[in-house]
Amino acid sequence: MSVLVRAVDLTKEFRVGMIGGFRIIAVDEVNFEVREGEIFSIVGESGSGKTTIARMMLRLLRPTRGAILYRGKDVWKLKRREIKWFYREVQGIFQDPYATFNPVHKVDRVLNLVFQVFYPHTSERERRERIEEALKSVGLNPREVLGKYPHQLSGGQLQRIAIARALLIKPKLLVADEPVSMLDASTRIDVLNILAELRDREGVSTVLIGHDLSLAYYISDRVLVLYRGSIVEMGSVEDVFEKPLHPYTEMLLESIPRVDKKWEKRMEFKAEAEEREVYALSGCRFAPRCPYASSKCAERPPLTRVDKEHYVACWLYAKR
Ligand SMILES: Nc1ncnc2c1ncn2[C@@H]1O[C@H](COP(=O)(O)OP(=O)(O)OP(=O)(O)O)[C@@H](O)[C@H]1O
Ligand code: SF4
Ligand SMILES: [Mg+2]
Repeated sequence: MSVLVRAVDLTKEFRVGMIGGFRIIAVDEVNFEVREGEIFSIVGESGSGKTTIARMMLRLLRPTRGAILYRGKDVWKLKRREIKWFYREVQGIFQDPYATFNPVHKVDRVLNLVFQVFYPHTSERERRERIEEALKSVGLNPREVLGKYPHQLSGGQLQRIAIARALLIKPKLLVADEPVSMLDASTRIDVLNILAELRDREGVSTVLIGHDLSLAYYISDRVLVLYRGSIVEMGSVEDVFEKPLHPYTEMLLESIPRVDKKWEKRMEFKAEAEEREVYALSGCRFAPRCPYASSKCAERPPLTRVDKEHYVACWLYAKR
C-alpha cells in the first residue's frame, strides 16, 4: 500500500501570553504515515493537538519544525501549480458544517465553485450531473437540498453536502476534524459509513479525528493515540483496542472510571498541575497521571515498536 502522507518530526509551538508568557508545544516531534485506502484515526482528549495536526496536514498551519510530506513532497515547499494539485488530492471536512457554508448563499454555490476552481472546462450539463451524483453518493436527494440556504438544512444534511463537495474534487485523502461530533447519534454512523464506503469503493483515505473511541473502533484501520502533543500509542485497531499497552490508552478505554485508589490520587494531582508545568516536563508528559510512573520516567520515553505495526511510548516497554 503506498504512503500518501508522512509526518516527519512534526512539531508546532505556540507562544501564549506576552511578557512572562510560555510556550506550548502543541505537537511534539510526531511521526506517522497515512496510507492509500485506509481510515486512520487520531484520538486524544481536548487540547492534545489533534486540530493542530489536521491544520498542518491541510497546509493551513506551518510547522515550527519538521514537515508534512504529501507523496514525498513537503507541502510548504510546493510551487503554485503544485498547491492546486495538492488541494485537488487533499480536502478537509470540519466539525461545524454551518461554518463551512456562507449563510447568504444557496448551497449550490459551494458545489459549483468546485468546478470554477478545479475543473473550469466542465459543461453546465456535466456539472449538474456530477453534483447530483455526488449528493446521491452521500445519501441525499438532490431535489431536497439544491436551491436551499444552509439554515434550511439540518446539520447532518449540511455535513453530507460538505462531503459531497469534497468528493466532487475527487480527492485521494480527506482530513476530517471531528466531522460527526455535532451530529446526532444515528446520523453519526451514517456519515462514518459514507467514509467507509468511499474507502472500499474508491480507495479514498481518511484521517479521522475525534474524541469518541467507539466510533474510531467502529470504522478505523489504524489508530494513533495522542497525549499532550505526543504519540503515546499507534497501531492497528486490533492492537490498540484489544491489546492496549500504554497506561493512557488503557485509561481511555476504561470509559467507566476506575475506582482504584492509585488512579484517583494521581487524577487529583493532575487537576492541580498547571498546564505550563505539564508542557515544561522534559520526561513523560503522562507521568503526573500515571500509576506506574518511576524515576525512569523523568526522561522522555521513545516511541518503541513492540509488534509489526504496534508502537508505544512508555518506559514499561522501552529499553533504555
Ligand atoms: N493559535 C493558537 N495559539 C496558541 N495556542 C494554541 C493555538 N491553537 C492551539 N493552541 C493550543 O495547542 C494545544 C492543542 O490544541 P488543539 O486545538 O490542536 O487540540 P485538540 O486536540 O484539537 O483539542 P479539541 O479536542 O478540544 O479540539 C492546546 O493547548 C491549545 O490551547
Ligand atoms: S513512561 Fe512512565 S510515566 Fe509515562 S506512561 Fe510509561 S510508566 Fe507511565
Ligand atoms: Mg480540535
